[in-house]
Amino acid sequence: MSSPVLDYRVLGAGDLPALLLLDAATNSHSWHPDNWRDSLAQHLCLGLFDGEQLIGFAVASRVLDEAELLAIAVDPARQGQGLGKALLGEIFRQLSQAGTASLFLEVRAGNGRAQALYEAAGGCETGVRRNYYPQPGGGREDARLYAFTLAGHFA
Ligand SMILES: CC(C)(COP(=O)(O)OP(=O)(O)OC[C@H]1O[C@@H](n2cnc3c(N)ncnc32)[C@H](O)[C@@H]1OP(=O)(O)O)[C@@H](O)C(=O)NCCC(=O)NCCS
Repeated sequence: MSSPVLDYRVLGAGDLPALLLLDAATNSHSWHPDNWRDSLAQHLCLGLFDGEQLIGFAVASRVLDEAELLAIAVDPARQGQGLGKALLGEIFRQLSQAGTASLFLEVRAGNGRAQALYEAAGGCETGVRRNYYPQPGGGREDARLYAFTLAGHFA
């Protein structure tokens, strides 16, 4: 079997159908198509492709020299193979090259896998937002806040 050809590409409006499918497969509260359209127009939306197939995405909004990571996901069939870490590293690199010094994000307290990813990538936990997220079956879940320093890491 030939090895996969992995590639990063900034996503555009034509990637919306594939994004909606991957978001629905990875997110219990997937975004409305209008949110995706706005993000594609306003934010850095980076796709990870295996050939023509979208297998991961990361979305970051930027203000001056700060950014917020709004979403990151890897195709469930491809998780646990280092792709999330690689995707996070690539969006950090692109943001840093565009002048971003710091990045912040929120993650569900129950999402241990994503927290392990952020800690492995050098994130510092900076606080908790109580009852921030709605839960699928009702009720609320805390958000944990992480900060990353990008300046100087990808010069
Ligand atoms: C979070 C997510 C993007 C990680 O992607 P991934 O490709 O599975 O992650 P990687 O294989 O690169 O692993 C990165 C780190 O996560 C941790 N990790 C990976 N698989 C894990 C598992 N099965 N259980 C716990 N931690 C795990 C490890 O710390 C790993 O670092 P290491 O290899 O140095 O030990 C992916 O699980 C996903 O798409 N989840 C659904 C969407 C989501 O929760 N997004 C985050 C919202 S804030």
